[in-house]
Amino acid sequence: MDAYKYTKSFELYDRAEKVIPCGIYGHLGVGRSRLNPMGSYPLFADRAEGTYIWDVDGNRFIDYACAYGPNVLGYQDPEVEAAALAQEKKGNCTTVVSPVMIECAEELIKTVTCADWAFFAKNGGDVTTLAVMVARHATGRKKIVMMKSCYHGVTQWCQTPGTPGVLDEEISNNLYAKFNDYEGLKALIEAHEGEIAGIISMPYNHISHYDNVLPDADYWKKVRKLCDEKGIYLIIDDVRAGFRMDLAGSDHYFGIKADMLCLGKAIANGWNMSALVGVAKLKPVVEDMNYTGSFWLSSIPFAASVATLRKMRRIDSVGIMQRIGRELTEGLRQVCDSNDTLLSVTGLPSLFKIILKDPDESLIPHQQWIGEMVRRGIYISHFHNMFTNVMISREDLQYTFDVADEALKITLRDHPEIRIR
Ligand SMILES: Cc1ncc(COP(=O)(O)O)c(C=O)c1O
Repeated sequence: MDAYKYTKSFELYDRAEKVIPCGIYGHLGVGRSRLNPMGSYPLFADRAEGTYIWDVDGNRFIDYACAYGPNVLGYQDPEVEAAALAQEKKGNCTTVVSPVMIECAEELIKTVTCADWAFFAKNGGDVTTLAVMVARHATGRKKIVMMKSCYHGVTQWCQTPGTPGVLDEEISNNLYAKFNDYEGLKALIEAHEGEIAGIISMPYNHISHYDNVLPDADYWKKVRKLCDEKGIYLIIDDVRAGFRMDLAGSDHYFGIKADMLCLGKAIANGWNMSALVGVAKLKPVVEDMNYTGSFWLSSIPFAASVATLRKMRRIDSVGIMQRIGRELTEGLRQVCDSNDTLLSVTGLPSLFKIILKDPDESLIPHQQWIGEMVRRGIYISHFHNMFTNVMISREDLQYTFDVADEALKITLRDHPEIRIR
């Protein structure tokens, strides 16, 4: 199979770099923005449908990045798009808000166990920030515990020390714990008795470049109990994992009830909105806050979210994605095994992480393997966890395995050291 060429993508990138910092920034970035190596990835998309994206050079990709989470029912899902279009005809960004906002809140409360109310914003970072503010306002305490190497967005409070433009004062009330280390967390909390407003954590540790870590069976139950004993609010950041582990919330998946759950990404199948949901006693606390944005009450995303939530429930989207993820990761594992190499598969199948192992743990063969796959139409990130959507077919999976096999044979020519037999 011939490797794709990205001629038009590169021409557009040259244009973009002159007028936009880094050309493309953030997690979609290449080159100066550090994340993706130049040459492996398409840089500009032309269109998307179902589980596919087409780049500006006409190359088609089976997209296992799913827009880094939002694509859960397939790009351009007919039900979601029809709901969005119907709302667009009535109005989107209007001086007076549409009642579809109430419908969206009611739908979330029906779906998510810890949701007695819903507050809407745009990005995941808007609601993780609000959750931390609510915990502080509710307790009158300053400190927030977060996990080492966590990601909760780009607002100052959750940036790592040394980030350009972030003052030490802005992060001086952060305490850092190791995910899944209950005793360490307990010791940290005891050392700051009466000072901690909240703990914010992803439901499991999907950390870039490394294997993902699921919690021990009783971890979350013990953390919940500790929070109750110490008067600390438990915030689960479900922006990434939400609606892919359990529609009722990832806290529900692990058998607990969070005080606040941060939702985004998959909530409206790609339409731009996020939500903070939480338990009844925190509603008056949120009512005290001054927190909003020009586009936060736009109606189209609410209509899209209602359609997304209803369809996800009706078709058991989580069950479908877990099945697809299991078949996908098992097939990739077999491809690696039949080529005498070792693939580590971590996380949950619907948002899996894969790493092709090498003896030096350099990730260099892994990056080559992923790059060769991408250039043959399988879009996988080399550093991030991946996502599934309900539209991935068995033919798509078989195509993925065929490409993975060819890409691995190419990689093995340059890196025979990764053979385990
Ligand atoms: C766990 C988690 N929290 C928060 C965010 C921030 O969301 P957003 O990029 O929509 O602000 C992300 C984004 O990737 C995330 O994965």
